[in-house]
Amino acid sequence: MSSKRIVLSSDHAAIELRQAIAAHIAKRGFDVNDIGPVSPESTHYPKHGEAAARLVAAGEADLGILVCGTGQGIMMAANKVKGIRCGVCADTFSAKMIRAHNDANMLALGARVLGEGLALEIVDAFLGAEFEGGRHGVRVDMIKEMEG
Ligand code: RB5
Repeated sequence: MSSKRIVLSSDHAAIELRQAIAAHIAKRGFDVNDIGPVSPESTHYPKHGEAAARLVAAGEADLGILVCGTGQGIMMAANKVKGIRCGVCADTFSAKMIRAHNDANMLALGARVLGEGLALEIVDAFLGAEFEGGRHGVRVDMIKEMEG
């Protein structure tokens, strides 16, 4: 069980997968803040990526999970927020490594790319890993310096 606070958001293309992830990680003991949207009406992924990213950047969530059709657009939006390191993953190894080596604080997934079973395994790999620091910290600090 973990008390880590996880914020989730998506666009219209990924509502079902986002809700499945929310239920899955709530069962595993995470403190889930699913900020929607709930309506299946077409919407714009940048605003949902930004909203979740701002909560992570402000320290109101420990980690974030974003979902859109491919994961790519919502990842690009999230990475514009200072302090956010978000990667799109379609495999469990990358999901573990973006935490362990890159200290990613957000994960992006593609609902039109992944089946639910694999998506949940990717989420588990991301949430189950910890940043290793050391030489990886030096490199992450170089990314932080680029933000000014
Ligand atoms: C929406 O149709 C789609 O463009 C969006 O979900 C996402 O895939 C963008 O990166």
